[in-house]
Amino acid sequence: MTDETVPKPETLAVQALGWEDRETGAVVPPVHLSTTFARDAETYETPDGRTYIRAEGWSQEHAEAVIQALEGGGAAMVFGSGIAACTAPLHGLKQGDRVAMLRTIYHGILRFAEVFLADWGIGVDYFDSGDLEGLARAVRPGETRIVWVETPANPTWAVTDIAAAAEIAHKAGAMLAVDSTAATPVLTRPLELGADLVCHSATKFLNGHSDVIAGAVVTKEDDEFWQRMQMHRRVAGPLLGSFEAYLLVRGMRCGYAGNRRTPSPSPDSWKHTQASNASIIPDSRAIPGTKRQAARCEAASGACCRSWCRVGATKPSAP
Ligand SMILES: Cc1ncc(COP(=O)(O)O)c(C=O)c1O
Repeated sequence: MTDETVPKPETLAVQALGWEDRETGAVVPPVHLSTTFARDAETYETPDGRTYIRAEGWSQEHAEAVIQALEGGGAAMVFGSGIAACTAPLHGLKQGDRVAMLRTIYHGILRFAEVFLADWGIGVDYFDSGDLEGLARAVRPGETRIVWVETPANPTWAVTDIAAAAEIAHKAGAMLAVDSTAATPVLTRPLELGADLVCHSATKFLNGHSDVIAGAVVTKEDDEFWQRMQMHRRVAGPLLGSFEAYLLVRGMRCGYAGNRRTPSPSPDSWKHTQASNASIIPDSRAIPGTKRQAARCEAASGACCRSWCRVGATKPSAP
């Protein structure tokens, strides 16, 4: 039985949760560019408790509310890039903590782990795609704080069973973090499958227009670790600008239309096999940066992700 009173995710997305401009009722809220907020002369208080954009920005909060709702999370944060978002949980770690990390994932996160984590006294143990026994060997109970999975992974599109990885992580007392850039909440909701954190390069499918660099992290729980990540964003400053936040919301409005239009499965399509992963649907996105990807994505996703997928397009000649 479906609950008719609960809006479908595609409705939430296209209406961007129905946030409107309070003054005019405009259904597309204005971009709030102000970096600071007027204080009451007597009380020195600010309206809505906002003080400075690095801590709380209206346009950023709109983007956060939308992605939080789409992922079904407890809280969300947007960042100035996907790499800023995806490394935010790693910035929350402390000396002596360990990370169990999938070996073949987006190279920037691997480089961050290689170059910085060891120097900060944080060990990294790697495991291979699809090797859950390898994952079980890589986690060290009491020491591993985060199990890091990217699924489907860039550049192989290898899929990890999120529910099984979550079980292994939780048994060892670790959190499961999933980079879900390729799937988007349209195709996978990792938190429902047991993940604790989900991150996105919103520069890709989440925005879908190739006109913004952005990232997002969604947490299942607004807990102590999340607050530490919030502190990282506030004091290190990897923020998303207001105009970019607006563009991200605009992209997410058409995310369902753009990401659901998939062709029939091809031989190299990715699929989740677990019943628990039933929220995944087959897709045929190919490896980023290849001409095949351009053809596939254009066929699959229509205008919303078209420009990101284009490879080798000829430049228009000067007028
Ligand atoms: C899976 C994945 N995660 C993170 C990133 C980093 O995102 P950004 O380029 O927005 O910083 C990328 C970039 O390609 C990616 O593919």
